Amino acid sequence: MKGLYKDKWKSTHRLRPSLGHRNNAITVCSLFVLVGVFVSVMFLLVACRLNLYMFSGQQALKFQTKMDQNFPLECLAWNQTLSCPKNYPTTHTNLDRSQANTCPDYFRWIYEDLRHWRATGITRDMVEIAKQSAHFRLIVLDGKLYVEKFRKSIQTRDLFTLWGFQQLLRLYPGRIPDLELMFDCDDRPVYNIKQYFRRPNPGPPPLFKYCSDPLSLDIVLPDWSFWGWAETNQKPWEVTLKDIKEGNKKVKWKDRAPFAYWRGNPSVSNVRADLIKCNVTNSNVDWGTRLFIQDWINESVHGYKNSNIEDQCTYRYKIYIEGWSWSVSEKYIMACDSPTLYITPRYYTFFARGMTPLEHFWPIRNTDMCKSLKFAVEWGNNHTSKAQEIGEASSRFIQEDMKMGYIYDYMLHLLTEYAKLLKFKPTIPPNAVEVCSESMACLADGKWRQFMEESLVRYPTNAIPCSMPPPYDPSTVKAIIDNKTRAIKQVEMWEDEYWKNQN
Ligand SMILES: *[C@@H]1O[C@H](CO)[C@@H](O)[C@H](O)[C@H]1NC(C)=O
Ligand SMILES: *[C@@H]1O[C@H](CO)[C@@H](O)[C@H](O)[C@H]1NC(C)=O
Ligand SMILES: *[C@@H]1O[C@H](CO)[C@@H](O)[C@H](O)[C@H]1NC(C)=O
Ligand SMILES: *[C@@H]1O[C@H](CO)[C@@H](O)[C@H](O)[C@H]1NC(C)=O
Ligand SMILES: *[C@@H]1O[C@H](CO)[C@@H](O)[C@H](O)[C@H]1NC(C)=O
Repeated sequence: MKGLYKDKWKSTHRLRPSLGHRNNAITVCSLFVLVGVFVSVMFLLVACRLNLYMFSGQQALKFQTKMDQNFPLECLAWNQTLSCPKNYPTTHTNLDRSQANTCPDYFRWIYEDLRHWRATGITRDMVEIAKQSAHFRLIVLDGKLYVEKFRKSIQTRDLFTLWGFQQLLRLYPGRIPDLELMFDCDDRPVYNIKQYFRRPNPGPPPLFKYCSDPLSLDIVLPDWSFWGWAETNQKPWEVTLKDIKEGNKKVKWKDRAPFAYWRGNPSVSNVRADLIKCNVTNSNVDWGTRLFIQDWINESVHGYKNSNIEDQCTYRYKIYIEGWSWSVSEKYIMACDSPTLYITPRYYTFFARGMTPLEHFWPIRNTDMCKSLKFAVEWGNNHTSKAQEIGEASSRFIQEDMKMGYIYDYMLHLLTEYAKLLKFKPTIPPNAVEVCSESMACLADGKWRQFMEESLVRYPTNAIPCSMPPPYDPSTVKAIIDNKTRAIKQVEMWEDEYWKNQN
């Protein structure tokens, strides 16, 4: 008898995905009735009850959570009242602690990014200096989000960044501490470390950005594209990750074209203009590269036929090169199962510091790039299993350590650590407005609206955030940097030897 219930329970759960997650117990029960022709109605009712009851544990609990709590956008109400809905949970409860885990190692750089303020804390004066460069001030107070806008950002970076913060609040209601921060949506880091530690400077300004470099104070957070980049048809990260995983299956690594692939806009930086010179058509030598210019305007006219990330995993090697600063393409390139030929960067994103040369990517010089690329491609084609290993390691890093849950956890932990340092009580300035998902999405249309719907957090998670690993001690930070430098030097030595023998 019990075995029969178990089978029923399994088939119920197998049916669930096609029903979507908004179904409820009643739908499932009626399906039982339709499908189970040979079982009596009475029996089914009992079985159904027992499902939720006997085999309870996690599955049934999740099931109920989803049934009770689902908060789609309330645009009708918002249109009429222009006020944010009041029914969303304000506390993070019903927690399932069985999945507790430690955050990936790259989270430990959070402490490094905040170390400049460890001794002094963060004063209001420091925050106000950062205003000079900010697009908006973000305020979290009693679990609600407010924004004071200073200027318009490029495209809709500011909108999607705010959307990301808002979704974080929906995922972990009540868990984000009160805070005020300044956010700059432009590309390059702003505040040089040295400049702000000389007297009579009032102290280092904390400014949040998408990338930084080792000479700058700027604190890094995930960029807008994790929630979608409508202007380039780049879907929200959770959707993209699945697409890339599927795309990777299309062509096995060994069957991929044995060249290094890049597609992008070369006119944004000198180093990219140099890269294009390495293309087989622009040179007498085949450097093992296949490079293509991305014309975003033409792409938008032709429905982005050539810009599907998941269709770009057909070459054995992929090149990552910075543009005006870091490039959003980094995470997509590194997820292809093909080793990334990573041209020596200047900037880092919040996750890049978690990756190691020769383990997650192959380092490429930014001077004499063509020779460096040719060597890398030839080396990989000679050492296919090692090359495949590197490609798989970066894919695993991107698929596992950077799944959307960890993106939110990174934001949560960074904001929590930041808020601990604040020496003043956050307040809502007169020009600030409350933001909620409705105030952003209900007025949006087209891709903007679609991406917001797709990345909307519909109910609070019942999972607890991953727990922060301890800070690195200074000698470990040094060892990590030394190890990376050593790996890069090693490749450069191989390369030099190879080219010496060619001449
Ligand atoms: C809300 O108002 C906007 C603009 O007036 C409109 O485009 C949208 O369709 C409305 N949404 C609903 C659900 O009524
Ligand atoms: C690079 O070479 C490939 C293959 O010959 C060619 O199709 C492509 O158009 C070239 N790209 C540029 C930017 O010249
Ligand atoms: C524009 O895109 C279409 C479709 O992908 C392509 O066939 C065409 O060659 C492109 N035109 C230019 C000028 O790049
Ligand atoms: C790859 O193998 C060929 C043939 O053994 C050899 O001539 C070449 O130097 C090798 N290249 C590299 C980069 O290992
Ligand atoms: C540095 O590399 C050495 C040798 O490969 C290794 O044993 C050590 O754990 C590495 N240190 C760090 C901090 O990664």
